[in-house]
Amino acid sequence: MNILGISAFYHDSAAALVRDGKIIAAAQEERFTRKKHDPEFPLNAVNYCLEAGGINAEQLDYVAFYDKPFLKFERLLETYIAYAPRGFRQFLMGMPLWLRQKLYLPREIDKALQYKYKGSYIFTEHHESHAASAFFPSPFDQAAILTLDGVGEWATASCGVGRDNKIELTNIIRFPHSLGLLYSAFTYFTGFKVNSGEYKLMGLAPYGEPIYYNLIMEKLIDLKEDGSFHLNMSYFPYCHKTVMTGQKFAKLFGGPPRKPESPLTQREMDMAASIQAITEEIMLRLTRHVHQQTKMKNLVLAGGVALNCVSNGRILSQGPFDNIWIQPAAGDAGGALGAALFVWYQLLANERKVDSIDTQHASLLGPAYTNEQICRFLESVNAKYHSYDNDEQLLDKVADLINQEKVIGWFQGRMEFGPRALGNRSIIGDARSEEMQSKMNLKIKFRESFRPFAPCVLKEDASDYFDMRPKDESPYMLLVAPLKKEKRLFADDQSMNLKGLDKLKPKRSIVPAITHVDFSARIQTVDPQRHSKLHRLMSIFKAKTGCPVIINTSFNIRGEPIVCTPEDAYHCFMATNMDVLVMENQMLYKHQQPQAKQHEVDKYKAKFQPD
Ligand SMILES: [Fe+2]
Repeated sequence: MNILGISAFYHDSAAALVRDGKIIAAAQEERFTRKKHDPEFPLNAVNYCLEAGGINAEQLDYVAFYDKPFLKFERLLETYIAYAPRGFRQFLMGMPLWLRQKLYLPREIDKALQYKYKGSYIFTEHHESHAASAFFPSPFDQAAILTLDGVGEWATASCGVGRDNKIELTNIIRFPHSLGLLYSAFTYFTGFKVNSGEYKLMGLAPYGEPIYYNLIMEKLIDLKEDGSFHLNMSYFPYCHKTVMTGQKFAKLFGGPPRKPESPLTQREMDMAASIQAITEEIMLRLTRHVHQQTKMKNLVLAGGVALNCVSNGRILSQGPFDNIWIQPAAGDAGGALGAALFVWYQLLANERKVDSIDTQHASLLGPAYTNEQICRFLESVNAKYHSYDNDEQLLDKVADLINQEKVIGWFQGRMEFGPRALGNRSIIGDARSEEMQSKMNLKIKFRESFRPFAPCVLKEDASDYFDMRPKDESPYMLLVAPLKKEKRLFADDQSMNLKGLDKLKPKRSIVPAITHVDFSARIQTVDPQRHSKLHRLMSIFKAKTGCPVIINTSFNIRGEPIVCTPEDAYHCFMATNMDVLVMENQMLYKHQQPQAKQHEVDKYKAKFQPD
């Protein structure tokens, strides 16, 4: 039985194919259209999923959509009426798309599937989709469930339990009270893009002090012991305006919002630190409450807020649960997968077999390309490349190149599903290098200098480098943990008298390129089951250098979706200051490419809107 799941029309449209309960394929539309967070109908992603499954639309048994458009429309109408006549313009702006597409989804999907699909459409609730994506692929037969995001239909958070092949959501928090939207309001005010800059705000937090924590608690939010909350909506005009914060909010924080791309000041850093601390507090209270209610040992998480890996790290280290599992595509893209799994387990009541790893297949669910396809492309652009017949020689060479501080584009196997590159569409480098953090930010990714880089660490060595239990893993780069004290080069910033961006200056640890200014790291543990080739590469690198850690950042520049095809990877490689590109077993050196021209950088950058 083939079930297609679709999420679309908000941000991060995606499709997923589930066959007899097994996840066959899943991908975000942005990777194909090259438009970051593309909200359009995911036609390319759907076509890819069908192709990966070797079927056409006629062979689909069900098509599931990740939310209920009529309920969402009801929320828009009721919100408009509650605030009328304010918000009329915003209301009018949204209407054409609703009347043209969103309220007529079956018609839209029929058209996209070229009228070949004859089955019925199933619409799951937004947070049901998130919850299903968190629980069904998880390695647990029972778990508490917590979902948190901006907003779905009415819910902005939900909790409940999953047992075997059923999930049950028992409590929700309703719009306009939303942790996701609260975080987005601070993202907006500090000059970053809503729905994409939240990650930057989290990365900025360690540069500041949470001096606004009490102010936020006092004025903006009424937080209860159980983690439920009400926002003081007089500070947040998002119900009737297209902006997240208003004048009252600006007055509270001593002036207007930061203009995008203008210099960051201590205020933004302190605001980032404060809202991060509030988010962690809310999530910890919610998890304690869910634990009390469910008495479960395991917790699963999804929804955009579950991408806040600093909070996740605290939930694991300080929360009441023994184990947590987070859907790698925790944002709305993952809703496509959740909706399809919901149909298979919840509605059709099929048996669920738990896998001790999980059934997400390392989240490597996108397209892959053969050596032949890659060579054919490289020939077509007259690239100069070296082919390796066997993996071991290739991996040995790449390990040497990392050791020589070369920056390497690493393109292998199936593309990742979810926002993180997990070693198949990655740029990798030497974590021991002092220059690497600024080199990669400024010359490879063309992004802000404050942004941290994440490490890949061999799973077996993770607890030697980071404060985590040997049994803990973070295969999807969704947990932050502190670097162990013995790997640090000084104790704290006070003794060094460092504030703000000055914190970037000193060498912090023996792996400075991946040590954030608060000595934390967003870890990806690499194990041989999920990432065989990367694990072998890192093991060789460790044998040569003694270091089980490398940098892993997504294969793209600022504003660009992660590369999907060999063509995307080649163009990104050529336009940036990457030294080497490895695609499956083909290796390209930049200095050997006849077409490498410096001026292409600007042309390439102009193709993508900075995020
Ligand atoms: Fe969502």
